[in-house]
Amino acid sequence: MKVGLLGHGVVGSGVRKIIDDGLTWEVRELEVTRILVKDASEITDPRMTLHADEVLNDPAIDVIAECMGGLEPAHSYVKKALENGKYVVTSNKKMLANYCNELFDIARKNNVTIHYEASCGGGIPWMASLDRTRRVDDIISFRGIFNGTTNYILERMSREGSSFADKLKEAQELGYAERDPSDDIDGHDVRFKVNLSCVKAFDTLQNIDDIITFGIRNIDKKDLQWCADNGYACKLLGNGEFHADRICAFVIPTFLKKEDVFANIPLNFNAIESNSLTLGRAMFFGQGAGSLPTAHALVQNIVDIYKSQDPEINDKFPVAIDNSRHEGVYYIRTLRPEVFAACTDRMISDDTLITGRISLLEIARLAEKAADDKLFIAEVTE
Ligand code: HSE
Repeated sequence: MKVGLLGHGVVGSGVRKIIDDGLTWEVRELEVTRILVKDASEITDPRMTLHADEVLNDPAIDVIAECMGGLEPAHSYVKKALENGKYVVTSNKKMLANYCNELFDIARKNNVTIHYEASCGGGIPWMASLDRTRRVDDIISFRGIFNGTTNYILERMSREGSSFADKLKEAQELGYAERDPSDDIDGHDVRFKVNLSCVKAFDTLQNIDDIITFGIRNIDKKDLQWCADNGYACKLLGNGEFHADRICAFVIPTFLKKEDVFANIPLNFNAIESNSLTLGRAMFFGQGAGSLPTAHALVQNIVDIYKSQDPEINDKFPVAIDNSRHEGVYYIRTLRPEVFAACTDRMISDDTLITGRISLLEIARLAEKAADDKLFIAEVTE
């Protein structure tokens, strides 16, 4: 089976290496025949080209592996590949989370499929496990640490008492962060992954803009000190909950009891858990980023296509997100505590409060009203 690679950066070069090395008989059935690179200086192999059409229009190519990242031109290239009747595998959560409705539709019309194991949880077989669980069971909810950069920052800040800026710089140097790290620290990267996980877990198509998203940009050492003093660890969690005709989908820093298994996920690792009717809780832990782990997930998807083990594209139904159905207790540090007065249970200091039990939607409304660019919000688990 012939594979065309779009991009030869961190992930693309990993895919080329795994396929060229061919450790197993399944991988030896695959061959990378064309590789799109960005710049003439990158051309080190006769398979490389600067012209996307030489990959997308090559009739011999069966599968396109999109490893470019970003919205454009990745989105246009994937669209073209599907229209040309090629299967697509991608690690690009941002592009797919924004265009999944359109791309699934084009794939269906052209009798091909689009596979995205690598877009969510990197090397962890999270999407495959959802497909497998869904053969027998209904998923009720999922939650997880979907972003290595922010887990690294939070864990190192808590352990070393170091500053946010120092640890972000370190995560960038280690190659965990997105090119624009705002996607990591503002929670957008997790939002994309929550959107795609809802598609898989619940067969739903929802409006990505309705996924309430709070990040860790404004976290301070004193927030983590409060956590430590009260027996908590702070993690950025992505969440999905199914409620028949509605779903809750949100991203929020969460203060977890130290005994909670998620509280102990180290460094840049990811951990994601599903909860389903008959299986109950099942958890997946591993490398959520990096060249070979992510490339591993892409090659797994290509082998699925080779073995005709395409997860069936069920009809997805549009569903509204209703985050009023998720209630919690929240830690809020703000320059405008008066905005939260009606839901405050107790003040911890002049600018920090703990709410009573309240819906997440109401917290999001108050956060918008506060218009405080230094605001930090976390859910406190009970
Ligand atoms: N920036 C992402 C992370 C890369 O830190 O998890 C993998 O999606």
